Amino acid sequence: MTTYITTPIYYVNAQPHLGHAYTTIVADTYSRFRRLQGEKVRFQTGTDEHGDKIAEAAAREGVSPKEYVDRISTMFRDTWPLLNVAPDNFIRTTDDNHVATVQKILQQVYDQGDIYFDEYSGLYCTGCERFLTEKELVQGKCPDHQTVPAEITEQNYFFRMSRYQEQLIDHIQANPEFITPERYRNEVLSFLSEPLEDLCISRPTSRLTWGIPLPFDDSFVTYVWFDALINYLTGLGYPDGEDFDDYWSVAEHVIAKDILKPHAIYWPTMILSMGLPLYQKLHVHGYWNVDETKMSKSIGNVVRPAELVEEYGVDCLRYFTLREMSFGLDASFSSAAIVARKNSDLANDLGNLYSRSTAMLAKYTGGVVPDPGNDTTDDTVLEELAMSVLQRYQEAMGSFQFHRGLQAVWELISLANKYIVSNEPWALVKEVEKEARLHAVLYNLTEVLRLLTLLLQPVMPETCRKMAFGLGLEENSPLVNTLTSGGGWGLLPPGTELRKIDALFPRVEKKKEQQPAQKEAGKKKEQTKEKAISEEGVITFDQFQQVELRVAEIVAAEAVKKSDRLLKLTVKAPEERIIVAGIAEYYRPDDVIGMQVLIVANLKPVRLMGVESQGMVLAAKTEEEGKTRLVLSTVSDPVVPGSRVA
Ligand code: MSP
Repeated sequence: MTTYITTPIYYVNAQPHLGHAYTTIVADTYSRFRRLQGEKVRFQTGTDEHGDKIAEAAAREGVSPKEYVDRISTMFRDTWPLLNVAPDNFIRTTDDNHVATVQKILQQVYDQGDIYFDEYSGLYCTGCERFLTEKELVQGKCPDHQTVPAEITEQNYFFRMSRYQEQLIDHIQANPEFITPERYRNEVLSFLSEPLEDLCISRPTSRLTWGIPLPFDDSFVTYVWFDALINYLTGLGYPDGEDFDDYWSVAEHVIAKDILKPHAIYWPTMILSMGLPLYQKLHVHGYWNVDETKMSKSIGNVVRPAELVEEYGVDCLRYFTLREMSFGLDASFSSAAIVARKNSDLANDLGNLYSRSTAMLAKYTGGVVPDPGNDTTDDTVLEELAMSVLQRYQEAMGSFQFHRGLQAVWELISLANKYIVSNEPWALVKEVEKEARLHAVLYNLTEVLRLLTLLLQPVMPETCRKMAFGLGLEENSPLVNTLTSGGGWGLLPPGTELRKIDALFPRVEKKKEQQPAQKEAGKKKEQTKEKAISEEGVITFDQFQQVELRVAEIVAAEAVKKSDRLLKLTVKAPEERIIVAGIAEYYRPDDVIGMQVLIVANLKPVRLMGVESQGMVLAAKTEEEGKTRLVLSTVSDPVVPGSRVA
């Protein structure tokens, strides 16, 4: 089996940010996952370097377009290794072979009568680099760029997109997997329910020279989409590259919702006109916001992947993005969210399972994987779950449900942690006749660790390399590198000698200092806040959003010594923290354990009667028969601890 997976080629008018990083991490993870399944894979990314926007950006910096695109393209190329993203091909639209391919295809489409010359008047948005229809405007403005499009009349070349409209509708209807998730397929079908206009594919050289000249009229250059989309073919050496047919017949594209129309409409109609088979799948994801706000240079909240890698580590970033975003929906980045995932999922759940298990092996068997023997009391549950996770993980990862795949893996981690507690290896070791049982338990734990090393490899390659080393396996051992050889139970050979490694994920103890840009934005917000509150007695939505409200589950509670008023609560939100609450007069510790309450999660910690309180529990204060009573706030249905309250 073969996989060909691509990302969009990114415009070089901006430096790589979290959004670009996400799409590229997704494609990298998917390609690693398919390799794990034993497939032959080609993964392509690159940069889109022609067009007005880029010519303008170069002019602003006072350099030639070529100099400018070389510089920014290199930034993209250099970012990917930092994220452990390993494309097989990095394509640039200024590459000679791409220019030649675009010209060849233009000539072919022109010769068969699908390109014609015409005069056109329309509303042109420079941000989108295309003409917009009246319908697309919101209050006369481009909804994406908030600018009024310019009315332009000019002669240009057009691609007869309308000719392929019916064929495309039929294809989308007959192939439910062609565009996923379904909401985007519906969006495209709805757009196609209106007559399709032909696509303007050129710019006169009097207005733009930074583009590929039309082979049949050199007073025009190609308009960006006809140039950019063809990269997916150039990268395979179209038309007669050695593996072209193999890869093209399985092509899958990953994009975000911003470029749905070019990929779901322009591109397939272009392919139909070329007489090629359509690509197989278009995977469309949502947008990353930052602290629930659109990421933008002017707000100063653009998140740079290299900085995140430095702060949290590459695998934490990869895990966080894939786990936090439900593919297809928007997600929000915040330092608190990534710290919570790191401390809870990575350090607590995965890191602790690894360190507890290997520490026990070091202590009880001298670090050698024991023989499991025949004692399997209570172990089938672990094995059965492992096999079910293996299957659910593959289904989820294969259909771009990365968060589901990871949730499944975490079920196994959680069961293994419970397995340690319920089997108490530290007690078994004290009884000679329980040695066989001890060995079975320790063996099963190392087998879970091996399976985790295998399954998490596409998401966290660096961590899995460490784990494989720690488990005494070769880096390229099939047991942790292929699902065909490693995807079973009981495969780790007894007698394997473990090796000591450092903690996989050190906890993040404190929030790091903010970036200067964020500080500045924070200061501005602070000033607005003072003004709004003093003058009007109200707060803005932005100010409200600074309060991080979360649902916390109370896992333990006790009275604070020498206080009648305070209870010390241990809560999960989702990481564990202590909150001291003044509710002792109204609740006994036993009453509140298991309750899900609302907390303010980003309050500065304070010490109350010698105990540090990391947040505040919300409660209603009521007066009843002249007496004050506090009633804890809860949620009407159980939710995942740590859920944001919005
Ligand atoms: N050059 C075109 C694509 C041509 S593909 C034949 C382009 N470039 S872009 O630099 O604007 O990249 C857009 C893509 O970057 C999105 O489709 C998505 O993959 C990624 N993202 C940019 N911002 C994003 C977010 N805020 N969130 C998620 N992904 C985003 O369009």
